Amino acid sequence: MSKPLTIYGHRGARAHAPENTLLGLETGIRLGADWLEIDVQHHAGELWLMHDLTLERTTNGRGYLNQHSAAELRALDAGQGQRIPTLAEAMTLIEQRAGLNIELKSWDGCAEAVADHLRTAIAQGWPLQQLRVSSFHLPELWAFKQALPEVSIGVLSCGVPLDWAAVATEMGADSLHISDEFVDQKLIDDAHARGLKVLVYTVNDPAQMRALMAQGIDGIFTDAPGIARAALEAARAQ
Ligand code: G3P
Ligand code: CA
Repeated sequence: MSKPLTIYGHRGARAHAPENTLLGLETGIRLGADWLEIDVQHHAGELWLMHDLTLERTTNGRGYLNQHSAAELRALDAGQGQRIPTLAEAMTLIEQRAGLNIELKSWDGCAEAVADHLRTAIAQGWPLQQLRVSSFHLPELWAFKQALPEVSIGVLSCGVPLDWAAVATEMGADSLHISDEFVDQKLIDDAHARGLKVLVYTVNDPAQMRALMAQGIDGIFTDAPGIARAALEAARAQ
């Protein structure tokens, strides 16, 4: 039997609720996500949950997020009447009911701001093993690791490096997060030989989930945690 997958609700549960909103996070938990993945940008003294640099796709605002005041951002509709949440609001909602993977999406003090926030959360009792920070921007991720080494980091990759998973080892990461377009068994095996978990984004098709389980990966980021949970249960029952 394949080993079980950990299910990460991608931007909450993007197939079912507005992404990176409190409703999305609540929906991800309800549908059975073990962890939630969010995108975070630092601006105007806050950490905003937002994937794009611009507002048009996911809100009724226009232009770049970082050209708006906090008050303007708080007034926007992020879908179904949801607001753009802050990291603090997201963590208050989650209340440790799921793990939290925070992806750094800006490079302007985001790492330090997230580290400050998590330092406080950990001091208040948030379990370390339910936190991870990831990024495609490795210097920013490195800055986070220097600021708060006790929190696990995951290296995001959208390709297959010449030296396979070596970068994740060099960064002191615990996991390598790869695109489903670049799933290569050699990369998976090299990561595992280095003691890294391998997580794949973004996987919504049950047949693809089963194939990835057979390849021995450790987790998937999915827009549809309920489908993933059902696929996992079906595989367990076999
Ligand atoms: O963290 C996995 C995945 O979210 C990375 O890609 O573009 O969806 O943020 P993206
Ligand atoms: Ca993301």
